[in-house]
Amino acid sequence: MDSSKQPPILAAYNHKGGTGKTTFLFNLAHYAMEHNKRVFAVCLDRQRDLLRMLKGHDSILKTDEVIERENLVAFYSPDKMVDLDMGGFDVALVDCPPARDISIRISPTGFIVPINGFNAYENFSTVARDLVRASDFVLAVINCAETTGTRDLNDLREAINAIPDIEVYPEAIAESGCIARCESQRLPAWRTTHSRRAAGRKQMEKLCRHVLKRAKITLGTRTVVKKEK
Ligand SMILES: Nc1ncnc2c1ncn2[C@@H]1O[C@H](COP(=O)(O)OP(=O)(O)OP(=O)(O)O)[C@@H](O)[C@H]1O
Ligand SMILES: [Mg+2]
Repeated sequence: MDSSKQPPILAAYNHKGGTGKTTFLFNLAHYAMEHNKRVFAVCLDRQRDLLRMLKGHDSILKTDEVIERENLVAFYSPDKMVDLDMGGFDVALVDCPPARDISIRISPTGFIVPINGFNAYENFSTVARDLVRASDFVLAVINCAETTGTRDLNDLREAINAIPDIEVYPEAIAESGCIARCESQRLPAWRTTHSRRAAGRKQMEKLCRHVLKRAKITLGTRTVVKKEK
């Protein structure tokens, strides 16, 4: 492995709050790790939710807390990507704060923009052009589809599709109990309790796969993680 090579950077952004940014990155981190990828995760967002979730259990985070495991380094870097050496990692994940200027400065490989309704769409549409300029691709993902309703969902999809140079993930992600439980159980959607038949589980796995492949990250075999009893 070339340890000096910088990995693709995937940043979750939408300056509308609560659209699913952290939840998605948390699942993406697990999906990549299950495929034996080394993950570098940066919380630019002052809430530090991604760090808290990746820690795996609830406790007060220290200001300079760094989570280091075999395939993971995660830390808090409020508002800035300082000269971070990401060599040796396969992917860098950045949880962005609700601030356009900071997020654009990252110049990521891809912006992932969860959109959970008209308000989130409107917020995104005002900065879409800037995100496109700053990255290789911008992928909009409709999240919590049910809360939107079928008719509104079509309107939403059409509106996003009309924004130039934006990729729209074809499948809307359901509002799903197994995704909602990621936060409290600190587990990816496919491993939360009662996730076996839930649509959200497969959808989240598919989305993670799509995003990593879009960033040209080759996925090898998956390590089966045994369910905790
Ligand atoms: N598809 C989904 N189904 C059910 N619940 C979801 C889904 N996506 C996100 N949630 C829930 O919505 C809430 C907000 O999600 P999350 O914290 O990931 O959003 P965020 O964009 O990171 O928010 P913030 O702007 O505060 O950082 C969380 O409680 C999460 O569990
Ligand atoms: Mg968040």
